[in-house]
Amino acid sequence: MKKYKIRFLTLFILIQAIVIKADAQVESLAPGVKKISSGIADKFTPYSFCEELPVKTALGELPAGKLPFDINDIKISVNNRGAIVEIPLDDSEQLYGFGMQIGSFNQRGLKIRPIVNDNPLNDLGYTHGPTTFYVSNKGYGILINTARYATFYCGNTARLSNHNTASTTTNKGANSVQELYQNDNKTSGNVTVDIPGAKGIEVFVFEGPDLKNVMQRYNLFAGGGALPAIWGLGIKYRVKADFNQQQVEKMAAYFRNNHIPCDVLGIEPKWQTAAYSCSYVWSKDYFPSPEAFIDSMKHEGFHINLWEHAFVSPKSPLYESLRNKAGNYLVWNGLVPDFADTAARKIFADYHEKSFVKEGISGFKMDECDNSNIAFGSNSWSYPELSQFPSGIDGEQMHQLFGLLYQKTIYSIYKKSNLRTFLDVRASNAFASSYPVALYSDTYDHNQYIKMILNSGFSGMIWSPEVRESNSIKDFMRRSQTAVLSAQTLFNSWYLQNPPWLQINKKKNNEGQLMGNAKEVETDIRKLFEFRMSLIPYLYNAFAAYHFKGVPPFRALVVDYPDDKNTFNLSDEYMIGDGILAAPLTEKEDERTVYLPTGYWYDYNTNQKFEGGKQYTIKPALNQLPIFIKEGTILPLAKPIEHVTTSTVFEITCYVYGDGPASAALFEDNGYTFDYETGAFNTVQLNWNGRKGKVVRSGKFKHYNYVVNSWKLIH
Ligand code: GAL
Repeated sequence: MKKYKIRFLTLFILIQAIVIKADAQVESLAPGVKKISSGIADKFTPYSFCEELPVKTALGELPAGKLPFDINDIKISVNNRGAIVEIPLDDSEQLYGFGMQIGSFNQRGLKIRPIVNDNPLNDLGYTHGPTTFYVSNKGYGILINTARYATFYCGNTARLSNHNTASTTTNKGANSVQELYQNDNKTSGNVTVDIPGAKGIEVFVFEGPDLKNVMQRYNLFAGGGALPAIWGLGIKYRVKADFNQQQVEKMAAYFRNNHIPCDVLGIEPKWQTAAYSCSYVWSKDYFPSPEAFIDSMKHEGFHINLWEHAFVSPKSPLYESLRNKAGNYLVWNGLVPDFADTAARKIFADYHEKSFVKEGISGFKMDECDNSNIAFGSNSWSYPELSQFPSGIDGEQMHQLFGLLYQKTIYSIYKKSNLRTFLDVRASNAFASSYPVALYSDTYDHNQYIKMILNSGFSGMIWSPEVRESNSIKDFMRRSQTAVLSAQTLFNSWYLQNPPWLQINKKKNNEGQLMGNAKEVETDIRKLFEFRMSLIPYLYNAFAAYHFKGVPPFRALVVDYPDDKNTFNLSDEYMIGDGILAAPLTEKEDERTVYLPTGYWYDYNTNQKFEGGKQYTIKPALNQLPIFIKEGTILPLAKPIEHVTTSTVFEITCYVYGDGPASAALFEDNGYTFDYETGAFNTVQLNWNGRKGKVVRSGKFKHYNYVVNSWKLIH
């Protein structure tokens, strides 16, 4: 009997082996982008919803990439459990990515399970942007095209078939736990991906040759990076959730009367008749005349952004039309629209277009599309993974894609209306590079916010480290510095009566008790905001490079210096565009060490010159920006304005760092529409020959957004 059992088992394993040996197909999708697939691919994947076409010309202009292994060495197998992918990995490789990871940076040696969630448990992969995409410093990227919960073993598994028995040490009386465990497993030579439930899988391979080129290929393949409306690069301030029309107007007047720059006011839940779940109808109690309100705010130079989530209240005019286009579980007693269905997306979009976009609403904050844990009890904004939707997508895949599809729905309105925007969202996924949408969350500490700026650059995402009340003025100012040095400068005062710079303590703030030194802190904040406004032309050009060339505007140092070992684990410094290195400090620090890569760098605050390849200690003041400028950079800084308008002309001073010739560019278009797509833009070339500067404009845009007033040499 026992013998029979063993024979049966052997036969079973053999049959399995025959069934699982799937033949992978390799297909070229665009220059330097290949797809390997095997088995029956899922219907609902991040790529299945990507309608943006690869920017083939720009992809073709990149230097030819070369994988450090033969593409056929990527092994795909499918068995009863699901699909497994094994990708070669050499001993010295460093891995990054997996979307908006919160606690981890260098992913080599980790087990990562990118799952959408607002609460990162034990740093295993839970995140607002659970992208199944990683990149290697050896110059390639691997994207597993799945919306399932997949697990990545990043070089930390040991296969029996590779077992080198000779290397096993025996325990001859260890003196410590470390010694006892010295026989570690991290010798797999590959990344193994487990995708339970999949009957087949597609693997996208993005070639380099270097890490920056990989990111360029990924972003260009997804349609090019986002180019937000130019006003989106100013300051965004979200008011208290229960503010009515008058209170918002009063806050707007505070900004203008005190000359504190602000471009966008965000209105939180109470603008609606029902918010949890949403009615998407103005509350006349709070906003008696929304049209007049939007107009008067526009007149004062403010754009209005409305908070909402996608769970549709029975009180909503959308309820009936979405009733049979929703999942079979509710959230906050509201429908979960089947965003995987084009018809459901259209109903949602058409309503928003007519009710809000046509009325002048400039953007939305798409909240709570990220899933939550049961730990939040009845307040959980989660539908079960076993949910079913009419389109056929299940709850697990819907969770992973919900934020992405929500963005797609809302962004489609602006695209169609030829209006640019800058939106907020709490969840995203792969191939979202072209969406002008910033991810955000309330819950993280300052270090995590900084790390997420770096990680956003590995996944075609935009991250905004928001500011609200703080532990101390130091904490508040440090967080504000980071917000000013990020893609979106957002102050989220959704539970604060007064701006946090007037009172950092939540209770006192809401009791109207302002700090004794409120005006001094306000002055410091104004100074930081003014710097942000000065930086808009430079930032806008960095976003244009994201759009046209795929270069992430905010990125880790390892992207620019992939061979420099000192950058491999550097998770608290980042590049902004090509010439600025940011090294933020947190509450705990009066000083920090900063590593400057090869070349020469200038401290922006002191103009002191530093030699790269070394570490230094810096002590920037609370009202300064902890940044360094690379030698050879022209930093075009504008005279600060309080907000951007359609007729803004930025008055620029070009700061030239270093003695040699230098050049830089500015992107010039109307900043508000997509007319640049049909050629209505200029490239404003700034050239410094070592002695004097010259501005050379080329392109079809008829107006000037920039005048260069002076050149200043820093050396
Ligand atoms: C939360 C969100 C906050 C605020 C709040 C309003 O989910 O993270 O920023 O918008 O909702 O109720």
